[in-house]
Amino acid sequence: MVKFGHRTIERNSILMLVLTLIVVSIGGLVEIVPLYYLDSTVEKVRGMRPYSPLELIGRNVYIREGCYNCHSQMVRSLRDEVDRYGHYSLAAESMYDRPFQWGSKRTGPDLARVGGRYSDEWHREHLIRPKSVVPESIMPGYPFLMERPAGLDQIEADLRTNAALGVPYTEDMLSNARADAAAQADPDSDGADAVLERYPKAQVRDFDGNPDLVSEMDAMIAYLQMLGTLVDFDAYRAEGEALR
Ligand code: HEC
Repeated sequence: MVKFGHRTIERNSILMLVLTLIVVSIGGLVEIVPLYYLDSTVEKVRGMRPYSPLELIGRNVYIREGCYNCHSQMVRSLRDEVDRYGHYSLAAESMYDRPFQWGSKRTGPDLARVGGRYSDEWHREHLIRPKSVVPESIMPGYPFLMERPAGLDQIEADLRTNAALGVPYTEDMLSNARADAAAQADPDSDGADAVLERYPKAQVRDFDGNPDLVSEMDAMIAYLQMLGTLVDFDAYRAEGEALR
């Protein structure tokens, strides 16, 4: 009689291979099959909305300049990270990020919750010349963001591309994209209220301190000041962690 124990299996590579494949496929099925029965693997969280046109331009500049090479945008669920940055990141917080900016390198701090931590002036000085506000900083300066126009003409097409990929921009948001981008950087404009209506919690300010130009600096600061501010975690904590 063949004894079907470790000895037999470990001495017969084909048998070992077949049994390994069986075990691995069971593990695979348990992981994969439930995904076909779920509508979405991302739990919806109140407060998350598509990025406003100006924030989206800022995000594009963030990607173009390679900020992700030194900054992550994901607070991990570890004690030291939560103490330092705030509530750990939820999947829903990057559901409209295409591509996501989780990053894998932290030469500088995580930025997922940087919104509201500093003033616009701080960000402007920091982006122009980081050493002027953080003397030991090794971050490069991006002074040209002040001079470069935000490229408002392309933003509607950009929103439409995101919409085609499943980001729920309404027709109203799409056709007003250019106007909304300009209005978000101009608190005195007529369109400022419409921006807030379409994009709740959007911050409407002259971010770069230069009212004559909607610059890439406006867009970048609008984006940074929004990061991590859309979901109200204090309210959720009060409700006992019911995040939906
Ligand atoms: C070469 C690496 C590097 C690159 C590239 C880089 N940074 Fe930084 N960043 C740092 C370092 C290091 C710090 C910490 C020191 C400081 O505050 O300047 C930092 C700090 C920051 C902070 C302050 C964060 C906090 O919580 O104090 C912000 C905001 C920021 N960076 C934004 C950006 C943006 C936006 C870009 C792209 C335009 C960028 N960084 C590109 C290295 C980098």
